[in-house]
Amino acid sequence: METKTSIGIIGAGPAGLFLALLLHQAGIDCVILENRSREYIENRTRAGLLEQNTVDLMEELTVADRLHREGLRHHGVNLSFEGCRVRVPFDELTGGRCITIYGQQEVIRDLVKAAMERDIPILFEAMATAILEAETKEPRIQYTQNGNDHSLTCDFIAGCDGYHGISRKAMPSGSYSEFVKDYPFSWLGILAHARPATEELIYSYHENGFALYSLRSQAVSRLYLQVSNDENPEEWDDQRIWDELDCRLSDNHGFKVNRGEIFEKAITPMRSFMIDHMQWGRLFIAGDAAHIVPPTGGKGLNLAVADIRILANGFTAWYRKNQEVDLKNYSQEALKRIWRAQDFSNFMTYIFHKQAERGSFDYHLQKARFDYIRQSRAMATTLAENYVGLKIC
Ligand code: FAD
Ligand code: PHB
Repeated sequence: METKTSIGIIGAGPAGLFLALLLHQAGIDCVILENRSREYIENRTRAGLLEQNTVDLMEELTVADRLHREGLRHHGVNLSFEGCRVRVPFDELTGGRCITIYGQQEVIRDLVKAAMERDIPILFEAMATAILEAETKEPRIQYTQNGNDHSLTCDFIAGCDGYHGISRKAMPSGSYSEFVKDYPFSWLGILAHARPATEELIYSYHENGFALYSLRSQAVSRLYLQVSNDENPEEWDDQRIWDELDCRLSDNHGFKVNRGEIFEKAITPMRSFMIDHMQWGRLFIAGDAAHIVPPTGGKGLNLAVADIRILANGFTAWYRKNQEVDLKNYSQEALKRIWRAQDFSNFMTYIFHKQAERGSFDYHLQKARFDYIRQSRAMATTLAENYVGLKIC
């Protein structure tokens, strides 16, 4: 079957769904192709930290009611190095900006519901298999659904299909360069029915490795431990996980985590990945399809949203004002913010992960950077400003 739309979107992750809702608001039609089921994408556990910009966008799209009821606004973050803890207050350092803790799958549920109510077509279990003629005025996406082949002709294609999608790979190899940095450690992440023992997140450097205390609600904790890349999750029983979290998150005042039933456990590798050009003809790449940051700064989802803001403005200027310049500048504009987030995520990863022996040169650098955050309001402000997210110009 052959169909037509203005913008063909591949992927119903945060990037694809936010783009569809912004286009709908601007009166531009689109179709989303998503290779998974609705149930699968609404239950995939991932990010949890929303920047102010992401919350602002949900408000603008009038999809923030549940976020306001259930999301947890945090006005600071705790940083710890070998038991010495410091709180970085966002309010006074960033002029009132803050972050909100709200699971990515909750965001997805809210966006899918709104898209359905607004009659935005999302084709689930529809896998894009090829992007054709992207350098012409009539690019096409080939996809399969229920065992049948289809073709979607578009004015433009938005590749929002994540790191493993087909969009980036559809750009000719010489049209962009790739940058990859793999880290020599991974995160073991758990979700537990346990009342969080902290109101705000704790990032902690410990001799045994990094630990992060995050949460999802007053009854559910989300915690992470640095582990080696070849770690076998079977070797981490619940008792070992809780003991290690207690050890790595301890402060000099007897802090203890609250234990409870662990209902999810997974290992995630850490990677920085970038491409230096996010467009080929009428194909535009956004979100994880174009860049991956290590999760230490909580930036991945928020960067996808920032790309989409810029891309949606470009499409709107094209259709409403007949103006091409914003679309032409998309890649250049998005890349500035992405490099900033790459640097910040790398900075947070470097300071808080165990990567060198105690007393080594790198250890002293890590400690010196942590001490500087404690000593200097200017450094704490830099950290806070990046953590809550720079304003999108
Ligand atoms: P995705 O969410 O990957 O969406 C891509 C979609 O495309 C998927 O639904 C996929 O099924 C679909 N797709 C792929 N190929 C095809 C195809 N051929 N045809 C059709 N559909 C296709 N980010 C933060 O901002 N804050 C955090 O606190 C944070 N914590 C994280 C913790 C963990 C453990 C992990 C793993 C990630 C975390 N992230 C965080 C990163 C964040 O989850 C991602 O950056 C975000 O999901 C990117 O959104 P996206 O829409 O670009 O891609
Ligand atoms: C999370 O809550 O999942 C989370 C929070 C902060 C991070 C990474 C993950 O830096």
